[in-house]
Amino acid sequence: MKGVILAAGKGTRLYPITRHIPKPLLPMANRLTMEYAFDQLKNCGIQDVCVVVGENEPTMRETLGDGSAFGLNLSFVRQTDPKGLAHAVGFAQDFVAGDDFVLYLGDSVYDRSLAPFVETFRQTGCVNLNLVKPVDDPRRFGVANVEGDRIVKLVEKPAEPESNLAMAGMYVFGPQLWEVLPDLTPSGRGEYEITDAIQMLIDRGNDVRAGVYEGAWFDTGTLSSFLETSRFLTQSGALVAADAKVDAELVGHVVVGAGARVAASRLEDCVILPGAHVDVAGSITGSILAGEVQSDSDLDGVIRWHEEAE
Ligand code: DAU
Repeated sequence: MKGVILAAGKGTRLYPITRHIPKPLLPMANRLTMEYAFDQLKNCGIQDVCVVVGENEPTMRETLGDGSAFGLNLSFVRQTDPKGLAHAVGFAQDFVAGDDFVLYLGDSVYDRSLAPFVETFRQTGCVNLNLVKPVDDPRRFGVANVEGDRIVKLVEKPAEPESNLAMAGMYVFGPQLWEVLPDLTPSGRGEYEITDAIQMLIDRGNDVRAGVYEGAWFDTGTLSSFLETSRFLTQSGALVAADAKVDAELVGHVVVGAGARVAASRLEDCVILPGAHVDVAGSITGSILAGEVQSDSDLDGVIRWHEEAE
């Protein structure tokens, strides 16, 4: 079993910070967001992982290296343009080389192990098993119609969902996926959809299953979901990176990232300050993700600025 992590998106919903730091490398509760993906794949017994990167390739390669720092063998392939998840996974075909593999969306974070789903894939002998989770508003997701544990129909971001089961960011595939990819055409939003590829597997009579995930699942792609995830992972109190310089009153749930310098400030309630870009001299209350804050900045302005960016 191998692992493929999709991390080639541009992170536009987290602009402007993702102009400086690729989204997969943003500190999430002071670990790289990617490390949560690495933990999950290792927990599934997977050692060989390919990361699909895009324009972020140089920084991703430099930061993640050969994976040894994370206990994995990492390799990278570059997706030419972000034309969809099915397009992205195609670049990993040579790496997968006919094996079974876990496809993991790089911005997903889970609070429970995904290993039982890999085990179910193995035991059932199905060609594809997909993590699904009941959600309140399925219109933002791929949506699965399920009979027993079989998926019978899939629609990407339907205006009128026929079920509340969202495709939840982790898929296990056998090599049959490669047979359908060449036949895919772009969807209404112009992307090669992994949901369409799986629908094609279903239409061609393959055994496609759903595994219902009962834990907490976060898609960290927006500012509010990024902050919510960080808050969840930090659990309580303050989390200050070892090399951050903080001379401030910390109130409530606060995260200060590596390299940040904070002086004469009061930080209150989930302040995320990733990296060396940040140098704060005022006080901040409320949730912000600060990437370009310089000393003496108008911090109220920065807060508005980030909310507009979402
Ligand atoms: O979050 C779960 C949802 O993820 C599923 O329910 C949907 O069925 C699935 O299509 C996907 O929808 P999103 O529109 O939320 O996907 P997003 O564009 O956020 O991309 C997910 C990850 O894949 C993200 O880490 C970036 C990466 N990616 C995305 C695209 C479009 C690539 O590596 N290449 C791409 O071309």
